[in-house]
Amino acid sequence: MTEAKPVSGTNLQKISDRYSESERLLSEARRYLAAGVSSNARLVGKRPPLFITHAQGSALIDANGNRYIDYVIGLGPMILGHRAEAIETAILESLAIGQVFGGQSSLEAQLAARIVDLVPCAELVRFTNTGTEADLLAVRLARAFTGRPKIIKFEGHYHGWGDGLAVSIKPPFVQADLRNSVQTHPESLGMTPSSYEDVNVLPWNDLDAIDAYLNWQGQTVAGVIMEPVMCNNGVITPSPGYLEKVRELCTACGALLIFDEVITGFRLAPGGAQERLGVIPDLAIFGKALAAGVPMGCVAGRADVMDMLTQGVMHGGTYSGNVTGLSVGLATLEQTCTLGGQALKTLDSMGNQLIERLEESLKRHRIAGQVQGYGAHFGLLFAPRERRILNFQDLRLVDRSAGDEFVAKMLDVGVRITSRASYFLSTAHTSSNIQDTAEAADAILAEMARQK
Ligand SMILES: Cc1ncc(COP(=O)(O)O)c(C=O)c1O
Repeated sequence: MTEAKPVSGTNLQKISDRYSESERLLSEARRYLAAGVSSNARLVGKRPPLFITHAQGSALIDANGNRYIDYVIGLGPMILGHRAEAIETAILESLAIGQVFGGQSSLEAQLAARIVDLVPCAELVRFTNTGTEADLLAVRLARAFTGRPKIIKFEGHYHGWGDGLAVSIKPPFVQADLRNSVQTHPESLGMTPSSYEDVNVLPWNDLDAIDAYLNWQGQTVAGVIMEPVMCNNGVITPSPGYLEKVRELCTACGALLIFDEVITGFRLAPGGAQERLGVIPDLAIFGKALAAGVPMGCVAGRADVMDMLTQGVMHGGTYSGNVTGLSVGLATLEQTCTLGGQALKTLDSMGNQLIERLEESLKRHRIAGQVQGYGAHFGLLFAPRERRILNFQDLRLVDRSAGDEFVAKMLDVGVRITSRASYFLSTAHTSSNIQDTAEAADAILAEMARQK
C-alpha cells in the first residue's frame, strides 16, 4: 500500500458520494449492533464513522476506496503505525505460546521489569486490559492505602467510562463567578449519585482551587487524579509550576497523586509525561501506546501502595496479563523506548514541524487559533492565541463550529484527525505526510478565512 495523499480541486467528490459506503454499512450494522458502533466516541463529528477496509503505516483506506493520512491511529495506540512488522511478528509468536492460562507466563514479569526500568514512579506494576480498568484499580488502591474516601478529579479530564470516574468530562459551562464551586456532573444516564458521591471535581490548572480544597478537606482525600496533559478536550498543557505545586500539596496532606498517562505514556517520552515534565506521581495508569494496538493497560507506582494488592485490595481479570498483550507490549517498547527513546524523539520532532506549519498558516490567514501540546500529540483550538486556554471552562472561548468544520474538511481531502482537532503522531508518519498535511490544512484555513 502506497502513501496516502490529500486530494484537491477537481478531484474533490460530493460529500454524500464520498462516504456513501460507510453510511450504508453503518445503517446495516445498526440492525444488529447497538448504534452501529462499539464505542460512542465514534459517532462524534460532522461525517459518518469511517468503515476501514485496510490500513498500513500512516495510511487508511475506507469502504469507498478513499485514502487518508491517519493521525487518529486508533485514538493513540498505533504508535508504530498500522500493521507494523514487529507487532505482527509478536502476535504470531504469542500464538505459538498460547493465550490465557488462568496462570502465569514469564512474559508478565519481563514486561513489568521493562516498565519499572522506564517509568520514574514505577516500582511495581499490575496489568489490566484497558485504561478504564487501570483507572478503577488506581483509585481503589489509593483509597485502601490512605483509608480515606475522597478522590479529586478535574473538569474535562477523562479516566475511562466506569461509573466511579465518568463525571464532569464534558460538563455544561458555568458562569465565571461559580467556577470554584464546580458541580459533579454525571456523563451518562444510568449512573447513580452514590457511585460518585466521593468524587469531587475541581477546575484544572488552577492552583488556588486545589490549594483551597486540600487545605480545607485534605485529610479526607485519598487521591488526586489527573491527565498530566489534558488530552481529551483539545490538548491543554499544564501551566509552568502547576504540576510541581500539586505534587507538594498532595505530599503535604497525605493524598496520593495519580497521573493518568493512558495517552501520554510511552508517547511523550519513554517514561511518559512524568519523565518529560519532571514531576513524579505516586501511581500512574497506562494503556494505548504500551502495546501498539492490542488491548493492554497497567497501573504502576510506589511499592508500598501497590503492595496493597497483597493486603486485601481485590483486582481480577480473566484476560489480564494475556500472552498476546504482553508479547506486543515488549515488542512495542523495544521499538519505541530503546536508544533513549530515539524513535519517540523523531516522531516528536516530526510533529513539531507540523505544529510550526499550522501556526504559520493560522497567522497568515488571520484565523484565531492556538496549538497546544507536544510534537507527539497536539491539538488546534480555534480561540485567540493571546489568551491561552487553560482548562475546561476556558473552552467556552473556542469556536467549536470552526473546529468541527476544519476536522470535516480535512477528512474530505484525505487527512484524518480526531474529532477534537488533535493529532497523534506515529513512527510511520513521513516527512512527505507532514508536508502534505500542512498544505492541506493551509488550503482549508485559507478557505475558512475567505468565508468569514
Ligand atoms: C486519559 C485516558 N484515560 C483512560 C482512558 C480509557 O482507556 P480505555 O479506552 O483503554 O479504557 C482513556 C481513553 O481514551 C484516556 O484517554
